[in-house]
Amino acid sequence: MVDRAPRRHFGAGDGRPRGCYDRGVDRDDFREALLAVMEQKTHWAWPAFTGGRVARARLHVHFEQEYATYVRDFPVLIGRAYVQCPVAAARRELAENLYEEETGGLAAGRPHPELFLEYPRGLGMDLTRFAGELALLPAARAWRDLLDRHTSAQGWAVAAAVTTIFLEGTAYERGELDPTAPRRPAPPLEQHPLVVHYQLPLAALALTRAHRQVEGGHRAAAWRVLLDHAPAGDRAAVVAAMQAQLGAWRAYRDDVAAACGVTRDTFPA
Ligand SMILES: [Fe+2]
Ligand SMILES: [Fe+2]
Repeated sequence: MVDRAPRRHFGAGDGRPRGCYDRGVDRDDFREALLAVMEQKTHWAWPAFTGGRVARARLHVHFEQEYATYVRDFPVLIGRAYVQCPVAAARRELAENLYEEETGGLAAGRPHPELFLEYPRGLGMDLTRFAGELALLPAARAWRDLLDRHTSAQGWAVAAAVTTIFLEGTAYERGELDPTAPRRPAPPLEQHPLVVHYQLPLAALALTRAHRQVEGGHRAAAWRVLLDHAPAGDRAAVVAAMQAQLGAWRAYRDDVAAACGVTRDTFPA
């Protein structure tokens, strides 16, 4: 037998019924557990990418793997959360994000996957590669397979979490919820690493610009959907899925780093 800590009532002061017990994870613990996952969404090799230490000739691997693992299909992935969700208020938030990602109709003016391609186009890369079937690195394949499992067969809350929180979110998620926590940095576009180190034309930062314009709203909506609408009984599964997604993402980024010639000797953990 395991002693269980007393569970807190959720709802103190937030309009929810008092005395209501969930089955394992209360709302505050759920929020903390999700934030803890996101605060680990960092990778040892990232300074190589932002510091111009990846050879220009290898940089295409990063863009191709990002595009093929989730960028190209992001509207579909979030659509899977939408179609499984019986909560109209949550569906509306998911639909708005889906519409913007698929069409750019609310803010960006073009579909976000298309805007992403402005990075490789601006860097002079061969765009025909992006139009075809890109071969995934082994851990990229595993990461994508896990994304497919989490968005297809484990309920809308898991699908919404791995898409709108994990994929769209950053290590600065706490700053989206807590005004005293650091917010994600937004330096001038002229200081973007691709501009500084690889001479990317500013016009090619269309997706960065669009995300600065619209993703603040998507961040707030993502957290509302999960914290206010995910069934309490699904919270433990959502956290487990997020932790698994994080582990698979780390392995995926290890593979991309290796394929880009970045080694742990140069960037120790
Ligand atoms: Fe979005
Ligand atoms: Fe987007």
